[in-house]
Amino acid sequence: MSNKLIFLTFVALTFGCLALAYEPKALQDFCVADPNNSVKVNGVVCKNPMQVEAEDFFFSGLHLMGNTSNPVGSKVTPVFATQLPGLNTLGISMVRIDYAPWGLNPPHTHPRATEILTVIEGTLQVGFVTSNPDNRFITKVLQKGDVFVFPVGLVHFQRNIGNGYAVAIAALSSQNPGAITIANAVFGANPPIPGDILAKTFQVDKTLTFGCLASADHKPLQDFCVADPNNSVKVNGVVCKNPMQVVAEDFFFSGLHLRGNTSNPVGSKVTPVFATQLPGLNTLGISMVRIDYTPWGQNPPHTHPRATEILTVIEGTLQVGFVTSNPDNRFITKVLQMGDVFVFPVGLVHFQRNIGNGYAVAIAALSSQNPGAITIANVVFGANPSIPGDILAKAFQVDKSVVDVLQAKF
Ligand SMILES: *[C@@H]1O[C@H](CO)[C@@H](O)[C@H](O)[C@H]1NC(C)=O
Ligand SMILES: *[C@@H]1O[C@H](CO)[C@@H](O)[C@H](O)[C@H]1NC(C)=O
Ligand SMILES: *[C@@H]1O[C@H](CO)[C@@H](O)[C@H](O)[C@H]1NC(C)=O
Ligand SMILES: *[C@@H]1O[C@H](CO)[C@@H](O)[C@H](O)[C@H]1NC(C)=O
Repeated sequence: MSNKLIFLTFVALTFGCLALAYEPKALQDFCVADPNNSVKVNGVVCKNPMQVEAEDFFFSGLHLMGNTSNPVGSKVTPVFATQLPGLNTLGISMVRIDYAPWGLNPPHTHPRATEILTVIEGTLQVGFVTSNPDNRFITKVLQKGDVFVFPVGLVHFQRNIGNGYAVAIAALSSQNPGAITIANAVFGANPPIPGDILAKTFQVDKTLTFGCLASADHKPLQDFCVADPNNSVKVNGVVCKNPMQVVAEDFFFSGLHLRGNTSNPVGSKVTPVFATQLPGLNTLGISMVRIDYTPWGQNPPHTHPRATEILTVIEGTLQVGFVTSNPDNRFITKVLQMGDVFVFPVGLVHFQRNIGNGYAVAIAALSSQNPGAITIANVVFGANPSIPGDILAKAFQVDKSVVDVLQAKF
């Protein structure tokens, strides 16, 4: 079998596993991994929820440069469920990627994840190849603040095309996305794998042991489905553009290096990169935001009905927290510094607050192309038409006059 044929077979087989490649749908607030438990399940057994603490949702060190002294000149620092046990079952994770001048993150696939990447520093050329039979190569040069998406399972790479160092932050739509570096897996096996055995080997890849369960967004049935907002046909999500008219721009967004306008009563601004802003995200189950905070600004308590959120601090100091569901309503909170990572499990009420005298910036990813946001204060006190005051007075166990004051503010 020729190398090219082996490669194509490999791509086809990897793609064939996709139907099985999603995380379990969360059946409870969270399931913090307990690596000490010997019981084997899909993912990792949960820790006793009463012993869960803020540290379980936390990782520190994403501000540190990875060691790129290696033949490819790049280094991935992972924040998967192994590094951040609270990610277990939540279907999202984050990495930092460092690139030496002209360093390369060589062609690889993530069998279980779509990846959304933003450039923090430097200039990257990125690209991916569509599956058989077209194998179209879609490529783009990214500057600081640009965002690009690599659809699940497709072969992709990034290359630093500048003379300085480059840094990217990327999020992946799995707690354990897996990585298969094409050159290593196919041509670098030790001892070498006979070509005719490779196909069989990949069919029993461990991705097959992952259950076929529901996910928040559609399961892709093709390489991608770039949103066509001009089409009047209504579906869950957005109708796809003709794949032959798809261009690199469809997977691209520019501007995440720009500070949002925080001149508003809460002192924070979310700049979204959802499927509306980046049409290539349609059906892929992931998105990204930049959040700016004035000194003491807050991103007030809210929920994302369709997404878990993983956040890293780029600048400043944030207090973050979330509240578990009934009946416990435990408040889990933590102060984050630059390079720290925190996860907000799907659907739970959470917030971030800048507790420094300077500006703060965070990059976060969400496990939906359209996570939705419900800001508690606005929904409860600012509904249109208003929720009757006596209902709220009873719900909050306060006098109706207190509710009237609050309703007047929203
Ligand atoms: C696992 O066991 C080690 C050693 O006994 C202990 O230090 C660690 O805290 C345990 N981890 C969890 C999540 O319980
Ligand atoms: C980086 O990695 C190289 C090669 O493994 C090693 O020789 C070097 O000491 C490392 N540098 C640091 C700062 O850890
Ligand atoms: C939608 O229509 C507008 C105006 O006709 C056009 O500029 C735009 O490129 C179209 N978008 C797509 C995704 O085809
Ligand atoms: C920021 O928003 C405020 C309030 O909406 C507005 O008055 C101001 O002009 C905006 N500033 C910039 C730089 O856009």
